[in-house]
Amino acid sequence: MSSRDAPRAPAPPHHSGSAPATEAGPSSVPLAATVSAPLSAPLSAPLSASLSAPLPPPLATDLPAGLATHLPPPRPEACFDAGWLALRRAADSAARARELERCAADWLRQRRMDAPQGRPLRLVDLGCGSGANPCHLATRLPGPQQWTLIDHDPGLLAHAHAACAGLRDAAGEPARVATRCQDLAGLDAHALAGTDLVCASALLDLVDAAWLDRLADACAATGSALLVTLSVDGHWYFRPDTADGPTDAVPGPADRSVDPAADAATEAAAAAPADDSFVRAAFNTHQRRDKGLGAALGPDAAPALATRLRARGFAVQLAPSPWRLALADPAQADLARALIDGWRDAASAQRPDASARIAAWHARRIAACGPGGGTLEVGHVDLFATPPARHLTRPPTGA
Ligand SMILES: C[S@@+](CC[C@H](N)C(=O)[O-])C[C@H]1O[C@@H](n2cnc3c(N)ncnc32)[C@H](O)[C@@H]1O
Repeated sequence: MSSRDAPRAPAPPHHSGSAPATEAGPSSVPLAATVSAPLSAPLSAPLSASLSAPLPPPLATDLPAGLATHLPPPRPEACFDAGWLALRRAADSAARARELERCAADWLRQRRMDAPQGRPLRLVDLGCGSGANPCHLATRLPGPQQWTLIDHDPGLLAHAHAACAGLRDAAGEPARVATRCQDLAGLDAHALAGTDLVCASALLDLVDAAWLDRLADACAATGSALLVTLSVDGHWYFRPDTADGPTDAVPGPADRSVDPAADAATEAAAAAPADDSFVRAAFNTHQRRDKGLGAALGPDAAPALATRLRARGFAVQLAPSPWRLALADPAQADLARALIDGWRDAASAQRPDASARIAAWHARRIAACGPGGGTLEVGHVDLFATPPARHLTRPPTGA
């Protein structure tokens, strides 16, 4: 999910669009927006080493445009505002661990060589939101690509459909894109059968340990690799600037200037580290609340997934992907303010007894968002994992 555990309600910027989701791109693959059914379904085929397996059929009736809006709405705490997702997009893009993207591209090139002639690479994006992840990844990965974007929010899927309409792979060829409106609660091997790369960004902190087990089992069964990016690690820090650049040091009174904005930043830096720790702890506890996918693992999710994948024979790489928000930059300061608001809201919900302390912390940190405010660093981790080598072997012909 997000660095800010940002549910749609109650305050802005939490609302998403409401248009229906449909298939995008040049393909005629019939995977357009489906009823919000659980992903689990009876298995209809063996799932091992499924390089040549077809994608499973849609799990519920395809809907014509306009009908998806009658679906039962997802629970508010698992809904995300399209404006928030847009706000974080540039920071996400800058933060992603490029070396893991290159590993994923190399692995897919090998996979394509082992796959039957003409078969596209099949990529699934779980919790796609408004499509930021496929938009970022498509041009960095080889083709031909066939994407399936899954989310339970038809409004966000409509954004994803529009954003991904012109998606192209690394060779500049159009990618096929389909959207599915489905709840990830029932994720299982059937849902991922035939997939080459399972992707997700800013999703993992929402899920519980049992869901990670199911994801790892499903990827092991189908032989899919995983690229799971921008999972929060629970750390964030405000770093004041110095002449030499950002630093951890907290300035003293001698550092005060005649600039009120700089003084606000200095005051925040001097007064707030203990309050930062307090708010961070409250926020991290709040983040573990159930948002529909069990007791959320929050910042523990990425290492927990790595452990589960390694136990199933996957080779797993983890790499940091922190946001480094320069508070002097207006756009990055906007993102920082939205984060600080979200942390305030979650921390206050978690520790109503400390609402005055949290409000004072919030006021200081908001006041420091601007020139002289330094940098807000928000920790994330990216994960790339490849299945055991047996999955790279082309199935015997004529078998
Ligand atoms: C923080 S957003 C990330 C969106 C997108 N991946 C990105 O990076 O911008 C988390 C996404 O997970 C989706 N989501 C949360 N719970 C879900 C569930 N149970 N089933 C399907 N999608 C879910 C939300 O609708 C939202 O789009």
